[in-house]
Amino acid sequence: MRQNDVNGHEYVLIIDFGGQYNQLIARRVRECNVYCEVIPYRKITLDMVRELDPKGIIFTGGPQSVYGENAPSVDKGIFELGIPILGICYGSQLMAYLLGGKVQTCTTSEYGKTETFYNKECVLFGSIKALPEKAVSWMSHTDFIAEIPAGFKTVAHTENCPTAAMTNAEKKLYAVQFHPEVNHTEYGLDMLDSFLKNVCGCKGDWTMESYADSAVNTIREKVGDGKVLLALSGGVDSSVLAMLLSKAIGKQLTCIFVDHGLMRKNEGDEVEAAFAGHDINFVRVNAKERFLGKLKGVSDPETKRKIIGEEFIRVFEEEAKKLGRVDFLAQGTIYPDVIESGSGDAAVIKSHHNVGGLPDHVDFKEIIEPLRMLFKDETRRLGQELGLSETLVWRQPFPGPGLAVRIMGEITDDKLTILQDADYIFREEIAKAGLARQIGQYFAVLTQNRSVGVMGDFRTYDYTLALRAVTTTDFMTADFARIPYEVLEVCSARIVNEVSHVNRVVYDITTKPPATIEWE
Ligand code: XMP
Repeated sequence: MRQNDVNGHEYVLIIDFGGQYNQLIARRVRECNVYCEVIPYRKITLDMVRELDPKGIIFTGGPQSVYGENAPSVDKGIFELGIPILGICYGSQLMAYLLGGKVQTCTTSEYGKTETFYNKECVLFGSIKALPEKAVSWMSHTDFIAEIPAGFKTVAHTENCPTAAMTNAEKKLYAVQFHPEVNHTEYGLDMLDSFLKNVCGCKGDWTMESYADSAVNTIREKVGDGKVLLALSGGVDSSVLAMLLSKAIGKQLTCIFVDHGLMRKNEGDEVEAAFAGHDINFVRVNAKERFLGKLKGVSDPETKRKIIGEEFIRVFEEEAKKLGRVDFLAQGTIYPDVIESGSGDAAVIKSHHNVGGLPDHVDFKEIIEPLRMLFKDETRRLGQELGLSETLVWRQPFPGPGLAVRIMGEITDDKLTILQDADYIFREEIAKAGLARQIGQYFAVLTQNRSVGVMGDFRTYDYTLALRAVTTTDFMTADFARIPYEVLEVCSARIVNEVSHVNRVVYDITTKPPATIEWE
């Protein structure tokens, strides 16, 4: 029996070999209502797998070749445990290689949408009635399985790849060269679902309703009659956490909302209103003057970020001290913050500051992170389950330093008002056009650029405002959103007419990389 069982839920283990879609695999498994965890291959031992006793295992993709020096691998004994395994891309090659098959470099690499021929006798494909024998899969590989291991059967192929999928059904081992987790693979999600339900025998017991109930019980048990403190930023994660904690422990929770004055228009009031009717001790600290004072004359982006991060902690500590000793500090950490990639850490481009970072001088016994198992979309569903207002559930990500990183150069109260007003119009028009949930993040940026314009019969010399809107799945890469010209036209006309000191509006059409999403 698993030791670290998640409140009795079925559990699938994802072994991470460093591929780019690994978190996506986990999200897809959760979409099939099966709880899973991603663990880097270098942390996995056979004993650990035995102890975890998962219903199934998935090997992810990865950038290496199985013959490479220090190529990521696993103990071969994993195939003898009787646990179903699905290898994806590198994971499929590793399965073939470790079991005595051959992997080779392709003469023609396959990348992107690829016509694939499926053998529907294989349960992975056969259980999907609508899947044709020929359909598109998403490939991304330069090596391929040239010879399958003894006991295996090829169950899919493409023009250039003789083994796009193989199985040893008796041993419950399956391998696919393509990426079923990527949307471009037709019926890919159904294939994962088929592996989980038909091969692993999962029933699919992971729902937010059941999670909310068990989380409330776990929190009550842990906290007892102790006091809990939460730094509430108004972002999705900390807001959902506030709702969950308030349901579990009511007045034993105190939320401190530091309003640094760098929020979007009306946002501070909206956050306060969202929690007004709930059984929570809610403290709002209006610290705008304090933050603007510290930021006076500062124009370097990293310095601004640092000042805001430090000042935030200071204000929070001052308020927290008034409460005396608290027992627990709650943090809105979610699963993507916890997952460590199989291939190590990436370079730091900006010093991110998350409202809710750890204060040094608050007296508490322990940190609790009740959302650390959830992905963002699950956190949102939990918020809905708990009755959090739609505005907060669907709030787009907002950087800890707020509008300070969207005003280029020095921040003044006047510039803040200009940006808030313009940003408000942009958001209003995006909502009106029905695009709000299709665009990952959208906002206005006040540049330092001033240019000549004409209004009525007068010359103007005013600011250029930039609009930024991106589509993204993980915020690591992003594309600019293809907003219809008609919508941009209304935004531009309204902004120059309704917001003083802006006489030019531009739309940012850069992808990330090379740009970042925020301008600073
Ligand atoms: P960049 O600009 O790095 O942004 O492409 C990626 C995502 O991170 C958000 N962001 C932050 N979030 N604290 C945060 O909590 C920060 O300091 C911070 N800086 C950027 C940004 O809004 C985008 O969603």
